[in-house]
Amino acid sequence: MPHIIDDKEAGRFKVARATFTSQEVFEQERDKIFQNCWLYLGHESELNESGEFVSRTVAGQNLLFVKGRDGVIRALFNVCPHRGATVCREKKGKAKSFQCMYHGWVFKNTGEIAHLSGEQAYADNFKEEGNCNLRHVPRFDSYAGFYFVSFNEDIEPLPDYLAGAKEYLDIVANQSTAGMEIIGGTQEYSIAANWKLLVENSVDGYHAESTHATYLDYLMNTNGSLTATRLAGKGYDLGNGHAVIEYSAPWGRPVAQWIPMWGEDGKKEIDGVYAELVERLGEEKAKQMAGLNRNMIIFPNLVINDIMAITVRTFYPTAPDEMMVNGFALGVKDESDWRREYRLSNFLEFIGPGGFATPDDVEALENCQRGFQSAANVPWNDISKGITAKTPSFDDELQMRAFWREWNRRITESEGE
Ligand code: FES
Ligand SMILES: [Fe+2]
Repeated sequence: MPHIIDDKEAGRFKVARATFTSQEVFEQERDKIFQNCWLYLGHESELNESGEFVSRTVAGQNLLFVKGRDGVIRALFNVCPHRGATVCREKKGKAKSFQCMYHGWVFKNTGEIAHLSGEQAYADNFKEEGNCNLRHVPRFDSYAGFYFVSFNEDIEPLPDYLAGAKEYLDIVANQSTAGMEIIGGTQEYSIAANWKLLVENSVDGYHAESTHATYLDYLMNTNGSLTATRLAGKGYDLGNGHAVIEYSAPWGRPVAQWIPMWGEDGKKEIDGVYAELVERLGEEKAKQMAGLNRNMIIFPNLVINDIMAITVRTFYPTAPDEMMVNGFALGVKDESDWRREYRLSNFLEFIGPGGFATPDDVEALENCQRGFQSAANVPWNDISKGITAKTPSFDDELQMRAFWREWNRRITESEGE
């Protein structure tokens, strides 16, 4: 049975539900997707001073994202070269060196071995050729402040891989001359559903008015939203499995869509922010940046949603029917206190695991996963909406088809070899 049916003539696109439940597919994804793509590691704003570090699990592997004493930012395997213990067990901090808790090997914050306990018992050249250093992740690069790793030494350069997504990363990265920063901590939670359900859900304009009816209602009636602004926009295939939906919406955006709740003083400030954008980027870009929302998937699992606030999230499968999610809030560095407050309350209120949206989405995803128990009898998901449209709407399913075509290409590429 194929994983997808992509029948343009008949106007149908189907995805086999078995791809959400199969252990074999889960293992293929580990080898063909997560081992072979560029994966998000962190944001430049997380490492300001030498010695700052963040330890993070990427595709099940413990990595250390660290700015060394030489000012260089690195991605290292957070794995002791001696016998494999996890070296740094703090989530983040600042350190000159890291000591392995097992036999006490000490590494500089550049990854180089600093002290080998009982060194006299080792051969003279034991430390040569970097034998005792923390290993670098094979490929490491950044674009617009977003750092990515790849475990595949031979992968194409990051800018080529990002394709059309670069333009949209720029829109997220250029919202202020002061730059962007990750604010506060990380939202971490698990969902009892396949990770690809969250890919689809993150760029799904179709579900907003039904799944999030309560929230939209609240916005219109309580939060002083722009009642005249409807959800309307388009979906774009950005190449290489990346896709975005871009649309207008009624809520306030700290960059820079005013809503009545922010009052006249708020309006003055937002007008000022907008004027700066127009001057720096031109009317058209400014309008797009300020007025339109973007939900973007960068293949395979980086979601950047620039909606009422900006959220950056990644998620990895721990089993076919379970994923771990990490979410971060991204904001403009120099924004005023009230804009920052609004941004953060939106991060909590809508996007957070205890907010208005995520619990509803989690319920929808887990509900689908339960439905896939019948995959043998009811085998296909449908994502055909908008397949015949010239310019698909934001609430069509073009963006999901873009993801699934790339997913299928990679999974089936070397099948049978
Ligand atoms: S495992 Fe790290 S020092 Fe032995
Ligand atoms: Fe949702």
